[in-house]
Amino acid sequence: MSIDQDTLARDGSSVAGVGLLGAGVVGSQVARVILDPDNGPEHNVDLNGILVRDINRAREGVPSELLTTDPEQVLSDDRNNIIVEVMGGEEPARSYMAAAMQAGKHVVTANKEALAKHGDELVGLAVDNGVTLSYEASVGGGIPVLAVIQDSLSANRIESIRAIINGTTNYILSSMEEGGSSFGDALAEAQELGYAEADPTADVDAHDAMYKLSILARLAFGASAHPDAIYREGIRNIEAKDLRYAGALGFTIKLLAIARNGAAGVRCRVHPALVPADVPMAKVNGVLNAVELNGDLLGPLWLQGRGAGAGPTASAVMGDVLRIAKGMLANDGNDKSAIGGLGGKNTANGPSIVDMDDLQVRYYVRLAAIDRFGVLAKIANVFGEAHISIASVLQFDADDERGLADLVIMTHPAREANMQEAAARLRQLDVVASLENLIRVEDYDTV
Ligand code: NAP
Ligand code: HSE
Repeated sequence: MSIDQDTLARDGSSVAGVGLLGAGVVGSQVARVILDPDNGPEHNVDLNGILVRDINRAREGVPSELLTTDPEQVLSDDRNNIIVEVMGGEEPARSYMAAAMQAGKHVVTANKEALAKHGDELVGLAVDNGVTLSYEASVGGGIPVLAVIQDSLSANRIESIRAIINGTTNYILSSMEEGGSSFGDALAEAQELGYAEADPTADVDAHDAMYKLSILARLAFGASAHPDAIYREGIRNIEAKDLRYAGALGFTIKLLAIARNGAAGVRCRVHPALVPADVPMAKVNGVLNAVELNGDLLGPLWLQGRGAGAGPTASAVMGDVLRIAKGMLANDGNDKSAIGGLGGKNTANGPSIVDMDDLQVRYYVRLAAIDRFGVLAKIANVFGEAHISIASVLQFDADDERGLADLVIMTHPAREANMQEAAARLRQLDVVASLENLIRVEDYDTV
C-alpha cells in the first residue's frame, strides 16, 4: 500500500498519532501498514501504542515494545489523537471508544457489533465531543460502501439494499458447492485465512451479517434498525444436498442481507436465499462480498470486493485514518469541526421497522417424506389450506432403509405468515418425517 503524499504534514512532521486497540488479524496488518518504511519516512501517521491481551504472542512485523495490556497507556497517551479499535466484541470495546471520544480523540473502528448495538450512543458522543467516528471497515471488508452511501449517494433516497456481507459464510457455501467441501472443513479454512470472527458462530448464525445490515440501514434509510428488529437465520441448516437440489432447479444458495424501504417502513432480513444462477449475485464466490444499492436518482449500483481478511480490512481502516489525518492537516491539527466522518443520519424521525409477516416470496421446502401413495395429497392439502400455491414438486434422493424420500416443493409467491403456518402443520403431519429446510427465493425482478 502506498500512502498518498497529500497526507504529508507540510513540515514533514506527523499530525496524526495512532493508538491501536487490538493486534490480531486486522490490527497487526494496520500496524504493519503504518510502520511500513516504503510508505515514506515522512508520512504523517505515528503508531504510539498497541493494546493486546497477551503481550507474549508472536505478531509478525509488530514491534513488541509498542505492546501493552494496560488500556490507559493507549487511551491516555496525549500523542494519540486517533484511536483505532480493532479488538472486536461489545465490551470493553464500546467503553474504550466512548472514553476516547470523551477525551477529544477521533475513533476509527471495524467493530460492527458495537456499532449496531450502540450506534446511537457512539454517534452522539462523536457529535457532542466534536470528533470523528469512522467505521468503513465494519461493513463489507475493503468495499467502501459506507462512504458511497453517505457521500456519493447523499442526494438519493435509497430504496433497497441487497447484499452478501459475510465473507466466512460465503466462503463456506461456495466451497461446499464448488469443491464439495464439508461445512466443518470450509469453516476451518475460513478461520485459517483470518476471515472468521473470534467466535465463528457470529458468522455461521448470521449475527455478523445482521450487525452489518443494521449499520447499512441506519446510514441508508436513517432507520434505527437495532439488531433485535432484524430477522436473522444463519447457514447452519444448509446441507450439500440443498445446494445440489437448488442447482438442479436453476439456483444457488447465498446468505443474503436485504433491506427495503417501503410505504409501510423498512423490513430488514438476513437469511439463506435461493438466488437464480444467472444473476451477478450468484457468481459472488469465496470471500467476496457484494452490495446492490438502489437509489431513486441513480437506480441500481453494484459494489463488489473482498469482504474479509487482513489486507482488505486494513485498507478500509487506513482509508479512515488517513482521511482524518488529511482533515487535521487541512485544519492545522485542531479544527475538528471540519473533519468529516461516518456519523450517520439522525434516526429519531426515521422510518419504522416492519416485521416479516407480510413478506411475499417464493419458497423452497425440503421434506423427508414417507415414500408411498397418498402422501403428496396430504402435503398439498396443507399448502392449500394455508392459501399457498405449489409451483412444482420434485422427488430427489431416497432413503430406502427408512422408506423416506427427499421432496422439494417450490411455491408460488406466498405470504410469510401463511408459510410459517403451513410449516408448523407439515411438521405435525404423519407422512412427513421432518421438514428439513425452508428457504426463501430471492427473485430478481424486485430490486
Ligand atoms: P482477532 O484476530 O481476534 O484480534 C483481536 C485483537 O484484540 C487481539 O490482538 C486481542 O489480543 C485483542 N483483544 C481482544 N479483546 C481484548 C481485550 N479485552 N483487551 C485487550 N486486547 C484485546 O480479531 P480480528 O479478526 O482482527 O477482528 C478485529 C475486529 O475487526 C473485530 O471487530 C472484527 O469483527 C472486525 N473485522 C474483522 C475482519 C476480518 O476479516 N478479520 C474484517 C472486518 C472487520 P491478543 O492478540 O493478545 O489475544
Ligand atoms: N467475519 C467477518 C466475515 C469479517 O466473515 O465477513 C468481515 O467483517
